Amino acid sequence: MPWLQVETLAGQRDPQTVERVLSELGAAAVWLKDAGDEPILEPAPGETPGWSETLVTALFTADFREADLRAALDDTVPGIEWRFAVVEDQDWQSAFEQTLRPLRFSDRLWVIPDGSPAPDHGAVVRLAPGMAFGTGEHPTTAMCLQWLAQQALDHAGVLDYGCGSGLLAIAALKLGASRCCAVDIDPQALDATAENAASNAVADRLIIVEPDAVPAGAQYDVLVANILSGTLIDLGPVLCDLVKPGAPLALTGILSEQADGVIAAWSGWADLNVGDQNGDWVLLSGMKHTTERETERGN
Ligand SMILES: C[S@@+](CC[C@H](N)C(=O)[O-])C[C@H]1O[C@@H](n2cnc3c(N)ncnc32)[C@H](O)[C@@H]1O
Repeated sequence: MPWLQVETLAGQRDPQTVERVLSELGAAAVWLKDAGDEPILEPAPGETPGWSETLVTALFTADFREADLRAALDDTVPGIEWRFAVVEDQDWQSAFEQTLRPLRFSDRLWVIPDGSPAPDHGAVVRLAPGMAFGTGEHPTTAMCLQWLAQQALDHAGVLDYGCGSGLLAIAALKLGASRCCAVDIDPQALDATAENAASNAVADRLIIVEPDAVPAGAQYDVLVANILSGTLIDLGPVLCDLVKPGAPLALTGILSEQADGVIAAWSGWADLNVGDQNGDWVLLSGMKHTTERETERGN
């Protein structure tokens, strides 16, 4: 299937703002790349690339019209020059592969592209490029990985809701969780998660399901959910039922101006705060209330 590729040099604009605009317009994938000849330095944990000139590339499905996108982009981020091209899957895949590089989180978790040498310490997740969101490069994924790397996960059961490529679930298992449940509404994401779990040798400790198939009555010790603020608000009661009282929670996919809305919506059953911020994105972290009374008081 061909894709409509849109590229721009972010120039003076914050590349992550450009990235967000493209995502909000419906891009299936957006990635950032050094547009100059600067060496690719390992970013500090949780940071995204900070090159002096960044190339932002987005892919839209072929049913998007160039004229409509151009008008919407000129409207939202004026003064930027956009290049449009129709590309085949193969081109997209190789362009994407070139952007993958080792990422480190909290000195104990590595996400490395297939084929790269393994570091000599820490938990390692190997990732092949695929269609599903989640390579560790996106600020929201990076914040979740950073948060997971700071949790005591030994023997824990972890719920990764909105699993995409399964990266968060696999990272949790590599960090010591005994079992994980990875949930997504997108069948492609579930397939990618299964593939990545198998290649990381954790498939036997992971169940991968659509939302309706989460085991009845299951309650997990830890929740990580990288979706979108509206969905997180709607899913609040469901997710709350799926974790134990006192469970650590991390929610992202939330823009900073949306944080208060999510915190308020979840206040009936959890105490959440902005635990991390990367560009316009925040990660809310906290804990499910420990008693029924606390839950009622919050309501
Ligand atoms: C932003 S991606 C996150 C992927 C990965 N967890 C990461 O952190 O990189 C959000 C994922 O949530 C899934 N999703 C969206 N709405 C959902 C819902 N109501 N229930 C479960 N998954 C959902 C999407 O299909 C997508 O794969």
